[in-house]
Order: sequence, then structure tokens, then C-alpha cells
Amino acid sequence: MTASISHLPPTGRAPRTISVLGATGSVGQSTLDLVRAEPAAFRVAALVACSQAERLAQDAREVGAELAVVADPEAYGRLKDALAGSGIEAAAGPAAVLEAASRPVDWLMSAIVGAVGLAPTLEALRQGRMVAIANKECLVCAGSLLMGTAKAAGATILPVDSEHNAIFQALAGHDVADVDRLILTASGGPFRDLDQAAMARVTIAQALAHPNWSMGAKISVDSATMMNKGLELIEAHHLFAMPEPRLEVLVHPQSVVHSLVAFKDGSQLAQLGVPDMRVPIAYCLGWPRRLDVADTRLDLATVGRLDFRAPDPERFPALGLARQALAAGGSRPITLNAANEVAVAAFIAGRLRFLDIVAVVGDVLARLPGDEPDSIDDILGHDGEARRLAHTLIAERAAIGA
Ligand SMILES: NC(=O)c1ccc[n+]([C@@H]2O[C@H](COP(=O)([O-])OP(=O)(O)OC[C@H]3O[C@@H](n4cnc5c(N)ncnc54)[C@H](OP(=O)(O)O)[C@@H]3O)[C@@H](O)[C@H]2O)c1
Repeated sequence: MTASISHLPPTGRAPRTISVLGATGSVGQSTLDLVRAEPAAFRVAALVACSQAERLAQDAREVGAELAVVADPEAYGRLKDALAGSGIEAAAGPAAVLEAASRPVDWLMSAIVGAVGLAPTLEALRQGRMVAIANKECLVCAGSLLMGTAKAAGATILPVDSEHNAIFQALAGHDVADVDRLILTASGGPFRDLDQAAMARVTIAQALAHPNWSMGAKISVDSATMMNKGLELIEAHHLFAMPEPRLEVLVHPQSVVHSLVAFKDGSQLAQLGVPDMRVPIAYCLGWPRRLDVADTRLDLATVGRLDFRAPDPERFPALGLARQALAAGGSRPITLNAANEVAVAAFIAGRLRFLDIVAVVGDVLARLPGDEPDSIDDILGHDGEARRLAHTLIAERAAIGA
């Protein structure tokens, strides 16, 4: 990660020009909340979503965006109607998403959910932009490509995920050569205390109800299986160039300590805060300065206690699968991520049981080879192959009533 400050508008000068990919999602909406709170500090170039055209149009009007894009071409008519008379440009389709990502900005939020966010994130990095990355799936699939592209283009990557943002903050002013290991905290999700038998019966609504964080559907289910933490191990490996054995997971039910850096001398530095994504997003949006964010004061006297325990690999096998995929490298993380995206979508659609999400991911990993991808086409090829196999295995399970 380069820590260049050359992109920053000096204090009191021109507003920072920004674009938000995934603007209608949980991270996108938190980002726009911060922008609305300081309208003079930001100028919005482009907002991108998939199909929520009316929501996108309303946000684009509120923040005065120049361009609004829906990835789904069928949503174009609704977007155009909702923007009528505003002077805001409307566009649709994957090529328009890429064009939006390539527009000149000081700062871009990458918060599309899933590997579909890879191409626009890569495009922004190729243009040498400062990119705040929430979209962990693109780092899991193409971490080396993204980090290499950022380095070659002089782009800056800012980690948005609360754990990686905490590590980024704790590392500031330190040499990564002095780090012994990185410790990612995990709430453990809504089922952290359930046994396997109880987990076999959980409902979609229960899986979506995270105890601490308010998030989109996919990441909420990933938190419930703890695949989210597995994806985050791979994300941390790429962001901080840390080998798999030096990445730890620590269950911390209160979600107040967002992660820790353990140094070689025995010191550990942590970042603490309320479980509200506006805190890490604000750190990225203002970086390297701090924004003043309302209602995010942490009161440790009220929190009272902070608990920690080791994760249980038996009840949460997703962690082991992610570690194996990271250690094996090649296309394994792409396969892990793609199979997981398909399995989570099937669970949310009521076509797969909760425990079968990780079982399907394990089956797909066991059946596909792990060749090293060397281009984005290769990455998308592995991604597509894993998705097709996951769909087949899910259909087979449904057919035999497994
Ligand atoms: N939520 C959190 O607290 C949190 C924390 C850390 C990291 N993250 C990561 O941040 C990313 C976003 O998470 P989220 O919870 O904000 O997700 P979310 O609420 O489900 O929102 C997803 C966003 O992506 C857009 N989108 C989906 N498919 C798209 C496509 N093909 N092209 C363009 N846009 C598309 C959606 O548009 P529509 O609304 O039109 O469908 C929406 O704006 C994920 O990778 C997640 O792991 C999230």
C-alpha cells in the first residue's frame, strides 16, 4: 500500500471529488450519510448501483451527483424517469459502470457486493486513484492483481472493512517488518454460541440478524457462517503482505476492538470504536485527516467488559476452508469465493439450508483444480467454473432432498 498524500486537497481548498460504487448498499449509504453531513467538503462525480434506480436517483439529486449508473440495463428507464429535469446524466450496463469508475476523482469508494465489483475497482486503480475498498470479494479473487496494479499506477488503497481499517490505523507510523502477527477480531455472528444441531435449524431471518452490525444480506450471512472472517484473512494477506500462519482470528462478541497488530517486542496495538461502519469509512473519506462524525462516541464505562476467546474450527469450518485456500493459493481463493457467493444466494432464496452453504463450498473446492490465474480473464474463467459447479451441486442436493 502506498501512503502518498499527493492526491489530497489541502485543508480549506477545493472539495474532494468522489465517486461511490455500490451507492445504494449498506456501505454506500453510510458513505453518503457522511457526505451529506459535510456537503461543502465533497463534490460527487458518479454514483453506481445495480437495479435500485429510484433510490439511486434520489441520492444523486440530494448530493448533486453528475452521473448515476445502474448496472442492470432493465433499470435504465426507471433511472431516466426518476432523474428527469435534474440535469444529472443517467447510464446503464456494465460498460457504463466501468466508464463511471474511470472518471477522474480524488477518491472512490468500491462497495459493490461480490466479485462483480472487481473490474470497476481494477479500472479505478489503473487510473491511479485513491480507492477505499470495502468490496472484499475482489481482493479475495484478485488480491495480487489489484495490489500490483495499484503499485504500478501509483494508486492508493484504503481498507474499509473495519478489521483491516483497524490494522491500517494501528500500523500507521510503524514498519511492517516489526510486526509479528495480525489479529483479526470476529463477533462470531448470531450463532456463535449454537451447537451444530441448533445451527442446522436456523432460519434466513435469524442468519440476517447480526447482533452488532447493520449490514447487507450477503455479508450478514457470511458473518453467520464465519466465512466472512475467512474472506477477511485472505483480504488481510493481500493488503498487508502477511503470510497465512501470521494471521490470527480472535472471537470478541462486543465488536469494540476492531483488530490488533502484535509487534515483535510483545506490544499489541488495537483500534477501538462503536460498531458503526461510518467510523472506518470516515477514516478513509478524510484520510489522512479525521472527519468529525456525530453519534459515534465510544463509552467504555457503558460497554463495561471486553471478552475474547479462540474461534471454534469444528462449528465454523469456513475458517479452515479459507485458510486452506489461502495457503494453497492459485485459483483456490477465487473458487472459494465464487462457490460461497452462489451458496449464500441460494440460502437467501430458500433453496439451501444454512449448514449446506459451507458444505457446498467445500465440495466445489474438492472438485476443481487450482491453477494459477495470470490475467483478469483467467480469474473470471475460474470464477465462472466454480459458480457453474456450485449451481449444479445445489440443484443435486435439492433433487435428492439433502
Ligand atoms: N455492510 C457492511 O457493514 C460491510 C462491512 C465491511 C465490508 N463490507 C463489504 O462491502 C461490500 C458491500 O457490502 P454491503 O453490505 O454494502 O452490500 P449491500 O448492502 O448488499 O449493497 C450492495 C451494493 O452493490 C450494488 N450492486 C450489486 N450488484 C451490482 C452490480 N452487478 N453492479 C453494480 N452494483 C451492484 C447494489 O446495488 P442495488 O442496491 O441496486 O442492488 C448495492 O448498491 C461487500 O463486499 C461487503 O463484504 C460491508
